[in-house]
Amino acid sequence: MNILYASSEAHPLIKTGGLADVAGSLPVAIKKLGHDIRLLLPAYHEVLAKCSDLKEVAQLNLPTAQYPVKILQGKLPNSQVTLWLVDYPAAFNRPGNPYMTLQGEPWPDNPHRFTLLARAAVELSQNRAGLNWQADIVHCNDWQTALTPALLSLEPLRPATLFTIHNLAYQGIYKKETFDALALPTDLWHPQGVEFHKQLNMIKGGIAYADIITTVSPTYAREIQGSEYGNGLEGMLRHRSERLFGILNGVDYHEWNPEKDRYLVKRYSASRFEDKAENKRALQKESGLPIRDKTPLIGLIARLVDQKGIDLLLNALPHLIKQDVQLVILGSGEQHYEQQLLQWQQWHPEKISVTIGYDESLAHRIEGSSDMFLMPSRFEPCGLNQLYSLKYGTVPIVRRAGGLADTVIEASKQNIENRTATGIVFDHADTHAICWALDRAITLYHQPEGWQQLCKSGMAQVFDWKVCAEQYLALYKKAEGFRG
Ligand code: ADP
Ligand code: GLC
Repeated sequence: MNILYASSEAHPLIKTGGLADVAGSLPVAIKKLGHDIRLLLPAYHEVLAKCSDLKEVAQLNLPTAQYPVKILQGKLPNSQVTLWLVDYPAAFNRPGNPYMTLQGEPWPDNPHRFTLLARAAVELSQNRAGLNWQADIVHCNDWQTALTPALLSLEPLRPATLFTIHNLAYQGIYKKETFDALALPTDLWHPQGVEFHKQLNMIKGGIAYADIITTVSPTYAREIQGSEYGNGLEGMLRHRSERLFGILNGVDYHEWNPEKDRYLVKRYSASRFEDKAENKRALQKESGLPIRDKTPLIGLIARLVDQKGIDLLLNALPHLIKQDVQLVILGSGEQHYEQQLLQWQQWHPEKISVTIGYDESLAHRIEGSSDMFLMPSRFEPCGLNQLYSLKYGTVPIVRRAGGLADTVIEASKQNIENRTATGIVFDHADTHAICWALDRAITLYHQPEGWQQLCKSGMAQVFDWKVCAEQYLALYKKAEGFRG
């Protein structure tokens, strides 16, 4: 099959969160199954700096663009996947993150920037760029590329479309004037289209028009059909539920593997699990914490936003801090969370280490050194860090939501006895529940035999991208059937 995979980020070129991990791995797995998949990304400043051997292969004249949009071709690093970059410097070649200014505000021209990306996907997929390549399937991800299925729906002959929701909390909502300024076809403007309470809602372009919709776990696929997690789109998702599927993400075990991890001071495996202790000591030293082998070390890496339940952690700290524990936190996001966490570090520097920022290598060291990993998310479409934690024998403590519910097996008495347990799972998003989970993890930690079993059962779990790729290919076929 010829597949165009459009995303606003992909590891190792540009990353703000899990979407990048997925977009950097799934196309590679699909390519390995023998399909011609091409990855489409914006030519951000950072991406251009990381790519060598790019060549200009096409120019597109797109509505609202002041000058031709160039398509640059290269390869996704360490893979055979063809990379196409949408090069329009006024939109993409600027410092800062793909979505936000250095001050943390969304770029005011985001709707224009990502409509360019969506339109470039339409032209490339329809063999209108002079590249002699026609897509059978266009696979789009999140609101930034969601207008592509909407625009393609207006074409007489078109590829089938699949739209993946990685996070329904971000929808790309703008004023009606923006819809007009973007010169989008008026046929799309109605409540079953991209109109949402008189505003433009970009993610609706994917949800309303794609032949197939997926999200990144079966539980989240159910959750978003209800009002608590549907963000106002639950009705439309229920209406299209026969087209909606949940496929769990995989893990790139070349990147996230304690046996090969280049960022660890000591590599280890399930059979050499005792070697992990050396990493723990190194991280304690690096983080300015006292070196203590028998004190449970809890890691947390996240965007510091409401979704991740940072408020639950803050509420649990007064209780947690009374115990013999250490916490290593890495993240960035909302300022009030950053400041409160830094404040806690100042109060208890011997127990809490906080790093504000984005640090790939520290993220690996936290995974490979902590005894447990905390993800108290209020909602979590899939979540990748709990999957990485399992592989590193770092017991996840998670809230039963979305992909966390689907991937971590609760350490109930029965699951411990039959050796299937892989982590601690709590239900309610409240202080009592998170404290219960943390206490339980600490109690289990002090029972070394049972704890080791828990770590090793986690390490034996496999979330293979090849299996996911096969599932997506089956859905691509189904999408072709739905297109008719
Ligand atoms: P989300 O996509 O909602 O942020 P995921 O769990 O799916 O959550 O993926 C987050 C990814 O981003 C993981 O690979 C995680 O290690 C990484 N990450 C998040 N914050 C940071 C940070 N501050 N530094 C380094 N990596 C981070
Ligand atoms: C989103 C979700 C996260 C998911 C990731 C990759 O950012 O918040 O749960 O793992 O996308 O699909």
